[in-house]
Amino acid sequence: MCGIVGYVGSKPGMDVVLEGLRRLEYRGYDSAGVAVLSDAGELQVERRAGKLANLEKVVVGTPLPGTLAIGHTRWATHGAPTDRNAHPHVDCAGRVAVVHNGTIENFEELVAGLEQRGHERRSETDTEVVAHLLEERYDGDLAEAVRSVCRDLEGSFVLVVAHADRPDVVVGARRNLPLVIGLGEGENFLGSDVTAFIGHTREARIVDQDQVVELRRDGVTVTTLDGTVVDGASFHVDWDTDAAEKGGHEFFMLKEIQEQPAAIRETLGGRLQEDGLLHLDELSMSDEDIRGIEQVVIIACGSSYHSGLVGKYAIERWCRLPVQVEMASEFRYRDPVVGRNTLVIAVSQSGETADTLEAVRHARSQKAWVLAVTNTVGSTISRESDAAFYTRGGPEVAVASTKAVITQIVAMYVVGLYLAQVRGTRDADEVRAHLADLREIPDLVQEVLDRMDGVRELARDLVNEPRVLFLGRHVGYPMALEGALKLKELAYISAEGFPAGEIKHGPIALIEKGTPVVVLAARHALSAKLVNNVQEVRARGARTIVIATDGDDSVTPYADEIIRIPDTKSLLTPLLTIVPMQVLSAEVARAKGLDVDQPRNLAKSVTVE
Ligand code: AGP
Repeated sequence: MCGIVGYVGSKPGMDVVLEGLRRLEYRGYDSAGVAVLSDAGELQVERRAGKLANLEKVVVGTPLPGTLAIGHTRWATHGAPTDRNAHPHVDCAGRVAVVHNGTIENFEELVAGLEQRGHERRSETDTEVVAHLLEERYDGDLAEAVRSVCRDLEGSFVLVVAHADRPDVVVGARRNLPLVIGLGEGENFLGSDVTAFIGHTREARIVDQDQVVELRRDGVTVTTLDGTVVDGASFHVDWDTDAAEKGGHEFFMLKEIQEQPAAIRETLGGRLQEDGLLHLDELSMSDEDIRGIEQVVIIACGSSYHSGLVGKYAIERWCRLPVQVEMASEFRYRDPVVGRNTLVIAVSQSGETADTLEAVRHARSQKAWVLAVTNTVGSTISRESDAAFYTRGGPEVAVASTKAVITQIVAMYVVGLYLAQVRGTRDADEVRAHLADLREIPDLVQEVLDRMDGVRELARDLVNEPRVLFLGRHVGYPMALEGALKLKELAYISAEGFPAGEIKHGPIALIEKGTPVVVLAARHALSAKLVNNVQEVRARGARTIVIATDGDDSVTPYADEIIRIPDTKSLLTPLLTIVPMQVLSAEVARAKGLDVDQPRNLAKSVTVE
């Protein structure tokens, strides 16, 4: 997820774009850049790694002249956050500038063709291929050149383009990711969201799927990819800037919960081959290395630890490898038995968690192969690991992790299936079938998100509860832990997660009349046993809140409240059961008047041991 701004009008383009980027910096902040077209037809580009302030230090003193500009603040997915990977990217002649949000899934194939035709690639990004393709296809009509290139791109993207020959137009295009037009008087704007331009205009228009927009001073023209002009309704933005950054939500967490379907698509994007199998060069492991793995150790903290626990079930099932999941803060102090035959997977959204980083360092000292699964390109943990699998969930601002966790779980499945594919413990058809199930998940998550009104109502009812228990079996157990952690960290309610089979070995003593017990009862071979557990706690007065699969009425007679989720393979159910618990905990916190994004005593990245 990145921040994109485009402008054409009569104001200094750089000022307008920098102002927009400041407001979009929450969408990505590992590098930033601007391209400004002077009235003399000179396209000047400045870009810097790091926060936007690094770029501003360079350009504010010597403003780039011109009233047409594009800009970008980046959340890296391909290529480390460096000056050379920062956007805008240009063609060989420096006459086309492009900024991009998303993932071009067929960029390697496009790069190969461009290099064969003599183009010189100057970055590791997928974006740059667009600049070179435009260089080849521009013949005076910039919008048509963009339409032509978009027809050859696979994946999700928003593109905004400027050409030195065209001081009158900025062109934008979108597929799957957001692009909005700001409609002004004698000036027009493009932005990743309305935050980019509501300082100048509150009249806006959405660019729809596979549409291309020509932005001129005197108006805008929107077409489909085949050039057919389309009309579209404008709307008035009545959000203030703060609400706009949160997409109209009261808190970033609520927005990030809604972003999960798109985040999962980004995690999967570009990793499936034409033949429907997996393609994970980023593991940097030869097939022989992968076949030589004798054990897997997953190290992580907090919610990332819970993702790792789900990974254990999947990797053991598909790869027939022993998997241990370790609290990173404990790992190195117990002198663990790891070595060359060990694949260590370090799961960390921030990639900066000190406990996990020290565990990585210990594992590497023992000659284990360390794979980082992280959301932050160029993070310390990714740099100190042997390889990195980026979840590409986009910046996660809220301290309580949501889209990062769900994309970590997806990463566990993808890595597990790849290991099984290479080790041959699952044949190609089985891998394809599991991947087909995973590709359906974003839509299923959206379906769960569309059903949350009852959960919001239930949340208001739990505000004064002193204690809530969470129960699950198999992969439901890590989600019971995650649900409890969310309620603890957001609503400050004492919450505990247990394996449902464990409740009778002591924790059941906690139950009093009315104690809320959340039961993760997604369809599973163990459902009958889980029904027994629900009966056990209900017989002792518990208020049973059951998350159950559509059509499964085995648990209904013992549920005081039912939250329904769509059906999917039982191993994948954490991707659906996690959502109601995120919403529940956020809404309890909101109902208690707490700061959902910044809970007390917590930090987004715990960089101390
Ligand atoms: C998650 O909601 C928490 N904020 C916390 O447990 C977090 O998962 C943990 O601190 C690990 O952070 P990391 O993924 O950045 O390493």
